[in-house]
Amino acid sequence: MQATSTLSVFVLLVTAGLAVADTRGLFALPNTNPDLSACASQASVFSCENTSAILDTCCSPTPGGLVLSTQFWSTWTGLEREGQFLPKDSWTLHGLWPDNCDGSFASYCDAKRQFDPKPDSSTTLPPYTGPGVDTFIVDFGRLDLLDYMEKYWINQGAPNKNFWAHEFSKHATCTSTFDVACYGKDYKEHQDVINFYDAAIRAFKQYPTFDMLASFGIVPSNKTTYSLSQIQNALKSQTGALPFLGCTTNGTVLSEVWYFNHVFGTEQFGAFKHLDTTTPSSCSSTAPIRYLERTATSEREVRISL
Ligand SMILES: *[C@@H]1O[C@H](CO)[C@@H](O)[C@H](O)[C@H]1NC(C)=O
Ligand SMILES: *[C@@H]1O[C@H](CO)[C@@H](O)[C@H](O)[C@H]1NC(C)=O
Ligand SMILES: *[C@@H]1O[C@H](CO)[C@@H](O)[C@H](O)[C@H]1NC(C)=O
Repeated sequence: MQATSTLSVFVLLVTAGLAVADTRGLFALPNTNPDLSACASQASVFSCENTSAILDTCCSPTPGGLVLSTQFWSTWTGLEREGQFLPKDSWTLHGLWPDNCDGSFASYCDAKRQFDPKPDSSTTLPPYTGPGVDTFIVDFGRLDLLDYMEKYWINQGAPNKNFWAHEFSKHATCTSTFDVACYGKDYKEHQDVINFYDAAIRAFKQYPTFDMLASFGIVPSNKTTYSLSQIQNALKSQTGALPFLGCTTNGTVLSEVWYFNHVFGTEQFGAFKHLDTTTPSSCSSTAPIRYLERTATSEREVRISL
């Protein structure tokens, strides 16, 4: 009796083990990392701080080594009826942009990777009409990534996926560490797109703007106002650098923030060195600044999922 039950427990465990192995095989997701093995033979440096030529531009963003992690504060999406909401108690992700070390920048650098349905006036490339970039993410099985993007990477007046496509095609195609060649001979189409979205989110998470401001008593309010220096000091005290702050309505309504960095190694995985903005704030330095409360029906709780 004893022997039998031990045996059946053993059989159960083996069966369970096989089931786990099967499950892993079934749900194995393709890797979307670049192949950085060649970077080992070249000194890693902070971008824009190299003292000799960077030969392999897959190893450090070149020439776009001044990297901007950018965010929005908006009060509505325009597509609330279709379920497009803003994340409660969080700013939203705008993008991850390559500036040259002198502050100039390139855009739409690769016609073969033009996925933007509404390219802006910085290019003459035609609008893209193929499947949305959301389908690329699904094709890679990255429902976790898609879920995060639907919560935190929010467009205004058009579907989120159009904005994600715009950010990739306008900016990531000009960032050397996302060049197709960096993914080696086993490159899978759109691997760079997935890899870029993961990288933009990793950078975004370094800058919890809402929480940094709230910790200094700066919370959205339709009754109170703040001074630009109050907002700047709060963010500088946590990041070590002065970000760009953007305002609308003659510089009186806070709407965006850009965090400047040099990146050690790749933009995907490297450490970010926080630097002062190279662009003066568009917010008034004298007038009271409004940090608007959102319309309650434009936002939703994103910190739990049931
Ligand atoms: C840094 O690398 C770039 C790209 O190779 C090169 O053009 C630039 O001259 C380098 N900077 C220095 C100071 O060597
Ligand atoms: C900005 O200020 C100017 C001059 O005071 C005023 O005419 C204009 O209406 C203001 N614009 C907005 C959007 O508030
Ligand atoms: C705060 O003011 C803005 C701008 O007038 C408005 O869109 C928003 O709905 C207001 N929020 C609340 C909670 O009243």
